[in-house]
Amino acid sequence: MSSSTLVLLQLLYLISLILPAFSANDDNQFAYSGFSGANLTMDGATITSGGLLELTNGTVQQKGHAFYPVPLRFVRSPNGSVLSFSASFVFAILSVYTDLSAHGMAFVIVPSMNFSAALPGQFLGLANIQSNGNSSNHFFAVELDTIQNKEFGDINANHAGVNMNGLRSEQSYYAGYYDDKDGNFHNLSLISREAMQVWVDYDSNNTQITVAMAPIKVARPMKPLFTASYNLTSVITDVAYVGFSSATGTINVRHCVLGWSFAINSPASAINLGKLPKLPRMGPKPRSKVLEIVLPVATASFVLTVGIIGLVLIRRHMRYTELREDWEVEFGPHRFSYKDLYHATEGFKNENLLGVGGFGRVYKGTLPVSKLEIAVKRVCHESRQGMKEFVAEIVSIGRLQHHNLVQLLGYCRRRGELFLVYDYMPNGSVDKYIHSIEGKTILTWAQRWHIIKGIASCLVYLHEEWEKAVIHRDIKASNVLLDGDMNGRLGDFGLARLYDHDDDPQTTHVVGTIGYLAPELGHTSKATPLTDVFAFGMFVLEVACGQRPINQSSLDSQTMLVDWVLEQWNKGSLVSTVDSRLEGNYNVREAVLAINLGLLCSHPFANARPSMRQVIHYLDGSIPLPEMSPTDLSYHMMTIMQNEGFDEYIMTSSSMVSNGTASAISNGR
Ligand SMILES: *[C@@H]1O[C@H](CO)[C@@H](O)[C@H](O)[C@H]1NC(C)=O
Ligand SMILES: *[C@@H]1O[C@H](CO)[C@@H](O)[C@H](O)[C@H]1NC(C)=O
Ligand SMILES: *[C@@H]1O[C@H](CO)[C@@H](O)[C@H](O)[C@H]1NC(C)=O
Ligand SMILES: *[C@@H]1O[C@H](CO)[C@@H](O)[C@H](O)[C@H]1NC(C)=O
Ligand SMILES: *[C@@H]1O[C@H](CO)[C@@H](O)[C@H](O)[C@H]1NC(C)=O
Ligand SMILES: *[C@@H]1O[C@H](CO)[C@@H](O)[C@H](O)[C@H]1NC(C)=O
Ligand SMILES: *[C@@H]1O[C@H](CO)[C@@H](O)[C@H](O)[C@H]1NC(C)=O
Ligand SMILES: *[C@@H]1O[C@H](CO)[C@@H](O)[C@H](O)[C@H]1NC(C)=O
Repeated sequence: MSSSTLVLLQLLYLISLILPAFSANDDNQFAYSGFSGANLTMDGATITSGGLLELTNGTVQQKGHAFYPVPLRFVRSPNGSVLSFSASFVFAILSVYTDLSAHGMAFVIVPSMNFSAALPGQFLGLANIQSNGNSSNHFFAVELDTIQNKEFGDINANHAGVNMNGLRSEQSYYAGYYDDKDGNFHNLSLISREAMQVWVDYDSNNTQITVAMAPIKVARPMKPLFTASYNLTSVITDVAYVGFSSATGTINVRHCVLGWSFAINSPASAINLGKLPKLPRMGPKPRSKVLEIVLPVATASFVLTVGIIGLVLIRRHMRYTELREDWEVEFGPHRFSYKDLYHATEGFKNENLLGVGGFGRVYKGTLPVSKLEIAVKRVCHESRQGMKEFVAEIVSIGRLQHHNLVQLLGYCRRRGELFLVYDYMPNGSVDKYIHSIEGKTILTWAQRWHIIKGIASCLVYLHEEWEKAVIHRDIKASNVLLDGDMNGRLGDFGLARLYDHDDDPQTTHVVGTIGYLAPELGHTSKATPLTDVFAFGMFVLEVACGQRPINQSSLDSQTMLVDWVLEQWNKGSLVSTVDSRLEGNYNVREAVLAINLGLLCSHPFANARPSMRQVIHYLDGSIPLPEMSPTDLSYHMMTIMQNEGFDEYIMTSSSMVSNGTASAISNGR
């Protein structure tokens, strides 16, 4: 080897010392157990006399960095794959508050130690708004974050994560560890002021990053906190610095490192835990100058914010205020919030009004979260009396489940108002089809027969098959709704009952709808399964004949549908009563059966009516209908109507009824 070559080599060696980029440390491992006398490159950070590395010293909005002073070579050959590495460190976060901290710290591998452009706060002194996430950053970080920043998709305010080039974690998990003995996960609070150890390993063979942590007294857990798959060759530069970055926000926090070891291509050597510096005792809250200024300003803005939020909340509260009493707790799951109903119906907009029934307006709505279509019935109700029983009943009705029942989903109460929430029935009510104006679709006979059978089976369920007999009290064509498959479904349950509770027990108010009221209700006003059967009979006649139970034939006279049917029958042509709009397209046997059954069910004498169970048998033909003659029935009808004073209960109940039948009556008077 010539002397000139030697000189050249020496020169090269010297140059390599001067240009750190080319002089990556060859003995690529180190370990610190305490930092007394350690030669680190720091900005913002300090090493205390006790050997504690304080990345931040309690100043707010501060950045702190500390690096191993020489860069390390992370590849074997230029542009090769990043080698495996292993790091471990002991840290503690000392906040003046035990339950509040900001922002966090990170173990980092970076191409340059110049962070003058990086921001404190949520950027942890690593990036700024423009540079965050830019692949030209070439930094790898393991963050210990004590604030949940939604903009970076943080999972919570106490997590560890691995980041490439930005603050959005590639992978993260709640701070904690898995117990080696029982495998249980134990949460760790990063801001607990306790020292904790973190292990970070990168395996270049399978590009796997493994992160583990544990309290200082616990050995490295076998099961890591999480692993992430990422080929760091695209992130870490051939030559890079290792160290820590941290930042504070508006809270006085010290981010401390007690010990640190690092190695490339071999496991990091163990930190001597016995030699770690002591953490300072956190005495009573130190009063820093900054706090003295910040505190009053913060307090003032806090008070202002609380005031504004308070006002907004009060306004919202007024808008969405509900009536809720102690006894309702047990009905909790059936209770809807008024806010949800308000949003579902777009503030009870008129466009969403489905109809105005006897007991209130019905609105269509879509529940905000589930997108379930609902019908909301808004019932005005002034009296509180009986409300508890009524709600109990409503809730018990909510438990009723039958294919031919409109499902009640729940309720909500406000002052003077009750909201009942039902499944939405897209095809509306049967009466719209039966009494439709010319040109509108009418129901075919097959559909009518299917609806009659469906409602009958629903009534058997209510009267006999459920825990206790439930009486509907208001069966009528406008309460039979049609679902998407044109199945008849009985709706509007128990509402009549609400008005029962309301009333003075002394006065016998009959509730229901004119034309569907059994005659005995005139004296007893006690609803029974047989009064339901009466109304069902009327409904069957209405559906089969296509006429209302009481027809306003002229200004002064009304015709009872029953009387008219009997009259036609007397004249010998029962089939002439079948809805003429069907134009003869019906099953004669079924139609005759339906009309006969309608007459039998609406028999003026309650004990002459069949039970709903018998009705089912008649409908499916397993029992023949009893022989009936038109003269018998009409005799009874007429006497009842005249002697028992049908007028009497028309009068008492007309206030309860709002639709066509009622106005027909009042017009007639
Ligand atoms: C710290 O390390 C750097 C880089 O190796 C070196 O230049 C400097 O002299 C060291 N300082 C001390 C005080 O040892
Ligand atoms: C904290 O460090 C900064 C420099 O980074 C310094 O200006 C400040 O005085 C220090 N504060 C305390 C309380 O030591
Ligand atoms: C390494 O990559 C750089 C830029 O991608 C390229 O300019 C250089 O030639 C590569 N060196 C080798 C030895 O492949
Ligand atoms: C650090 O980077 C900034 C720009 O990001 C630059 O202006 C400044 O000169 C750099 N400082 C050093 C010491 O290189
Ligand atoms: C990323 O940073 C480089 C270099 O600073 C810059 O040229 C580029 O525009 C940045 N990319 C984005 C998406 O901001
Ligand atoms: C740990 O914390 C997470 C998130 O804060 C929480 O969901 C979980 O229930 C906690 N686990 C235990 C065992 O406390
Ligand atoms: C990676 O693979 C090499 C060669 O197959 C092997 O010697 C080395 O132990 C592996 N490293 C790890 C961390 O598995
Ligand atoms: C990682 O990426 C580098 C460069 O893209 C590639 O050469 C290397 O094979 C990759 N490592 C693995 C394990 O896929």
